[in-house]
Amino acid sequence: MKSVASLPNNLSEEKTDLSTLVKLVEDEMGLVEEWLRTNLIDDNPFVEDLLKQVFLAGGKRIRPLIVLLASRATAPRQEEFSRLHIILAVLTELIHTASLVHDDVIDKASVRRGQETINKRWNERLAVLMGDLLFAQASICLARIMNPTVVGIYGQVLGDLCAGEIKQMRQQFSTTVDWELYKIKSVGKTASLFAAGSHSGAILNGCPNNTIQSLKDYGLNLGLCFQIVDDLLDVTASEEQTGKPVGGDLRNGVITAPSMFILEGGGKNAARLKELIDSRAVLEDGGVQEALKIIRDGGGVDKTIELAGDYARKSKECLSVLPDSQYKSALASLSDYVMNRTC
Ligand code: FPP
Ligand code: MG
Repeated sequence: MKSVASLPNNLSEEKTDLSTLVKLVEDEMGLVEEWLRTNLIDDNPFVEDLLKQVFLAGGKRIRPLIVLLASRATAPRQEEFSRLHIILAVLTELIHTASLVHDDVIDKASVRRGQETINKRWNERLAVLMGDLLFAQASICLARIMNPTVVGIYGQVLGDLCAGEIKQMRQQFSTTVDWELYKIKSVGKTASLFAAGSHSGAILNGCPNNTIQSLKDYGLNLGLCFQIVDDLLDVTASEEQTGKPVGGDLRNGVITAPSMFILEGGGKNAARLKELIDSRAVLEDGGVQEALKIIRDGGGVDKTIELAGDYARKSKECLSVLPDSQYKSALASLSDYVMNRTC
């Protein structure tokens, strides 16, 4: 099976190591980790244990990393880097994690990050409430930042997340190829939160509008790249790599870029893939394996890599407004990482 890492891409020759980028904001990331495991809501030890489980399960922490690097890259004076940027990073990861806890209920997922999901280990009711609790923690963080513009941005993100999921739900098992809808849905599900994280630090730093806008565009493009690579890994990666079952999207009737390229290509491959989706054969192991083989052998993977690469490139171009610094370079390297990631 091909992995993304083993496939050609012309973005970067070298594999970007995430830990090198994290090193630049190591102390701040340490504080973010502490905050994430802290029960801000009440002193219920069960909730505290659950929070620890959710956050100890890992996760790449890409979103807080974006917040911290973008905040540093736009800080007028590094010594003024404040607690508020840490809280911004925490709230961005809290919203992300909360949305995944709810997403696992919607997708009836049993495994996330290689561990049993809350809905599987306990039940769906507890998972919904735990997701809500994480959103509540995020609102407390937002209140502590005390910036109405940032409150508005994150309020919009919550709406975008729901709207994105609703669009996806309404398109379930649809084989009509609509790239605009795919993009809008991906902005809602993923890129909106990336964009909030990438430009809110610049707002707190009092940056000029063109800097703020460019960083927002950086996050939007990077978020789109991230979601497309996510859709790709669903086809190319193993469960050991992603911590999620292979072909999960197809099994859930979520038709993404790799399938869309095959469907729009026409011919025998498109007809057979459509049949497997229409008949719901993709709900079974045999059907999903056949669909995955058609996508991999029919060029769906290569075209998806190209599409993701376009967004990665655009994200890097948005950084040209920033003064040169190690943080600016790290943001560019992050685009390479997101493009080449294998998990
Ligand atoms: C993962 O997608 C899911 C998301 C990125 C967002 C999910 C958002 C919600 C469930 C709405 C959140 C609710 C509120 C109240 C804001 P995926 O299923 O493609 O990825 P996966 O394979 O990692 O599960
Ligand atoms: Mg899911």
